[in-house]
Amino acid sequence: MFRSVLEGPTAQADMTVLVNGAETPAWDGETVAGVLLRVPGAGRTSAVTGEPRLPYCQMGVCFDCLAIVDGVASTQGCLVPVKPGMRIESQQGAREIGR
Ligand code: FES
Repeated sequence: MFRSVLEGPTAQADMTVLVNGAETPAWDGETVAGVLLRVPGAGRTSAVTGEPRLPYCQMGVCFDCLAIVDGVASTQGCLVPVKPGMRIESQQGAREIGR
């Protein structure tokens, strides 16, 4: 897995977010996609094939960073900076209508 370049030598986190219910350290300036890359198994699965996917382009083009962020499905994680206490859930397959 990846390590944040924002961690610094002490690895002291600026905040904590919840990823699939687990408290996870995060840093100011980091995106949801950045967090997803650091947490094993936190990526999404393809709505078409069910294959595992992880954030790729980091600029809003590939949609491989879709996640449920604070209850909002199909959020492009690479476009959303983390906030303290943010709830991030892996999105499995297609999103449900009304979710
Ligand atoms: S990582 Fe490609 S759209 Fe977010």
